[in-house]
Amino acid sequence: MDTKPVTNRRRLAISPTFFSAILAATFALCPIARTQSKEVPLFAIDGQPSQASQAGHAAPAPGYTGPGSCASTTCHGSVSPRTDNRVLQNEYSTWIVKDKHSKAYASLQGNVGERMAAILGIGRAESAPKCLACHALDVPATQRARTFDLSEGVSCESCHGPAAAWLGPHTERDWTHEKSVAVGMYDTRNLTKRSEKCLSCHLGSEEKSVDHEMIAAGHPDLYFELDSFSAVMPRHWKEPGEPGEPENSDPWYDVRELTTGQAVQLRQSLLRLEARAHGKFWPEYSELQCYACHHSLTLPENSWRQARGYSGRRPGDPPWNPSRYTIFHEVVFQADGDGAGKLDSELSRLAQLMSQLNPDREAVAASAASCARLVGDLSSKADSMPNDPASTLRLLRKISGDADNISAQGEHAAAQSAMAVQSLFVAYERNGKFEHSAELRAAISALFQDLQDPSAYNPARFSGKLRQVNALLP
Ligand code: HEC
Ligand code: HEC
Ligand code: HEC
Ligand code: HEC
Repeated sequence: MDTKPVTNRRRLAISPTFFSAILAATFALCPIARTQSKEVPLFAIDGQPSQASQAGHAAPAPGYTGPGSCASTTCHGSVSPRTDNRVLQNEYSTWIVKDKHSKAYASLQGNVGERMAAILGIGRAESAPKCLACHALDVPATQRARTFDLSEGVSCESCHGPAAAWLGPHTERDWTHEKSVAVGMYDTRNLTKRSEKCLSCHLGSEEKSVDHEMIAAGHPDLYFELDSFSAVMPRHWKEPGEPGEPENSDPWYDVRELTTGQAVQLRQSLLRLEARAHGKFWPEYSELQCYACHHSLTLPENSWRQARGYSGRRPGDPPWNPSRYTIFHEVVFQADGDGAGKLDSELSRLAQLMSQLNPDREAVAASAASCARLVGDLSSKADSMPNDPASTLRLLRKISGDADNISAQGEHAAAQSAMAVQSLFVAYERNGKFEHSAELRAAISALFQDLQDPSAYNPARFSGKLRQVNALLP
């Protein structure tokens, strides 16, 4: 087996380039920033649309047509966005040029993908169902139209659902989104459903999963935040808060995207944990804090872990990774104090169960399932909270004010807080301006700097930076 190191950019938990992409993509959304910074392409143009294979299967009811059906310049393949329509019509061009999803299959054929497959002993990555599950639209052959080609990666229908039934009629005059949804389009407009769709690959599920075995073979660790990831993707649609999007206009839409995304992320991660507790490998290390096991040893007087103490854990038992709760914790306390208190104590119990060397599978599964139900109930309350300047500012203050607690939860939690603070800042600045706008911008960029080397993450330093953001808020 050839497993010699490859020179490609590799990453374990956190990608420095990804964080600069978040800063570039989201700061560019504030009107003020747009005039200051030059537009830089986020991703290199390193691929052309693959030729759709003509050698498809003659099948009874092929539902999936492939992205080529959407690519005509009069449909979604316009080079520049149309200004006379709420649909931009350059979605295909955006996807093929800037969106990494169009390169997802090609990644399996690259050095990193092939090396990973060799280490895992699964043959070639581009034909392994274990990889195709998230890197392509791996639907049964009977559902693929002649124009469909697996090598087109994560394409339109991966998110929007099989197009065969609405492809023709969806351009008719009185056709509506609801009619499309009724014949198989996935309802990506619904934020809960949208989050669930993204997370089916960016968190995984019982059926498709990135576990510690895959991470140890070289796969990046998965983390997600709906608002930041949508900006980096980048968006090929107008949001209700944007000019030219008259339907359901909501200037605080980004905040809703953040809070709903966090609720769904927490619920789905608990359901994944429940499934994993009944799975083949247990304990599943990727549910735990990576750097509890993976840190390098320093002189005892320099070890912040030793200084922090192990709060009831036996030193050596790695703690659960609670980062999917970090932001929802701050959101839900504003929506329902009592419910949030209950969730807090149930999740603490789950964290305790998970932070033992060999967690009890049944107890973990039961606790995770019960927490997931509670999150479901609470998220509808959080969703019905109105968003305005005051509530956005309150959430910003709350997250940045909880600096010590968040920082102590580890580098994944720190990453979630940095992305959330960034999203909230951008949402606020889209509607007004902070007195200390430039200073805040610099302070937020500094948060991301601290995440660049996860092995060197230092909670005291990160906490200081989060407090600096807090001090600059009105
Ligand atoms: C069918 C699986 C799938 C779905 C659904 C999906 N993604 Fe992805 N996404 C991927 C894969 C695989 C990659 C890695 C592509 C590559 O570089 O090979 C990726 C990459 C990305 C990246 C680039 C990350 C980086 O490191 O630069 C962003 C941003 C992103 N996805 C956002 C989203 C958002 C937002 C949604 C939901 C609207 C979503 N994704 C839905 C599979 C998916
Ligand atoms: C649960 C869904 C899922 C599965 C299963 C999965 N991946 Fe991924 N993969 C992703 C996502 C999502 C990303 C992008 C992560 C990010 O940037 O946040 C990614 C990124 C990658 C990358 C890095 C791409 C880049 O250019 O940065 C490689 C290589 C890769 N995957 C290979 C594989 C291989 C090989 C397999 C099978 C052994 C596999 N993946 C299985 C979801 C998945
Ligand atoms: C990774 C997921 C993903 C992929 C891949 C994707 N989209 Fe989208 N698309 C979305 C999301 C999320 C929205 C925003 C919600 C909405 O409007 O439905 C959206 C919105 C749209 C809209 C605007 C719909 C409206 O009514 O405002 C069009 C048109 C569209 N996509 C076309 C495409 C085309 C064409 C492709 C392929 C070239 C594509 N999308 C690939 C996730 C995706
Ligand atoms: C319970 C302890 C533990 C946890 C938690 C853990 N790992 Fe590991 N990991 C290990 C051990 C042990 C190895 C194998 C090292 C060896 O055999 O030399 C390993 C191997 C790896 C490797 C292979 C490369 C290498 O240098 O060994 C990577 C990459 C990796 N882990 C990343 C992660 C990430 C990312 C996380 C969090 C999502 C994580 N690990 C969580 C214990 C852990």
